[in-house]
Amino acid sequence: MSLFDFLETIMTQDEMKQAVAQEALNYVIEDSIIGVGTGSTANFFIDALASIKDKIKGTVASSEATAQRLASHGIKVFDLNDVEQISVYIDGADESDANLNLIKGGGGALTREKIVAAVADRFVCIADESKLVEVMGKFPLPVEVIPMSMKYVSREIVKRIGGNVELRDFTTDNGNFILDVSNLKITNPKQMETELNSIVGVVTNGLFANSPADVLLLATPNNVRVLNKPNL
Ligand code: A5P
Repeated sequence: MSLFDFLETIMTQDEMKQAVAQEALNYVIEDSIIGVGTGSTANFFIDALASIKDKIKGTVASSEATAQRLASHGIKVFDLNDVEQISVYIDGADESDANLNLIKGGGGALTREKIVAAVADRFVCIADESKLVEVMGKFPLPVEVIPMSMKYVSREIVKRIGGNVELRDFTTDNGNFILDVSNLKITNPKQMETELNSIVGVVTNGLFANSPADVLLLATPNNVRVLNKPNL
């Protein structure tokens, strides 16, 4: 692939992210508080949200980076503890399967993302089509851990679910570490999410399967597809 073709691919993916972010504005409920995710797709959403900022009460951010970007647009950011209800949480993902189970945390914000998503009435995931996979696990699964437990948790992960564990050179907004687990085939995401969370020292892991997305807006080069969570 030539450099020109490569750059064109990148632009196309960014255009898809932008299109899906724009589409997500249709899921914003007026006069309510919106949960806002983290990452490049969420950043496009924040930029789009700025155009309707006077129609919402404000936002809750899933990371310091998101809070800063929201504030830079003059969008009000609430502390989650000052808020009782979030109408919708809008965020990207690293992978999704057809049941809208997700891997998140590529940007390291998984714990706050899961918290804000838990409070929200509805989770609308926004992604380009490269994120939809048959079986999750090609993208390394992030696990946030308390620093002193890092070695113990790494051993337990290999014992319990297998895979290769790597420590990311990164500290989360919560002052913790991230272990990335590669070489997984996640055929039972609910069970894996629960198993990983039962290891002492794990804060949370990047599987959103016990509470998956409610809607996945998926950008293709031609349109934005709407996938709803199936009734299983
Ligand atoms: C951040 O921690 C992640 O969960 C992001 O939502 C995820 O990595 C998607 O990011 P992009 O939109 O940049 O692909």
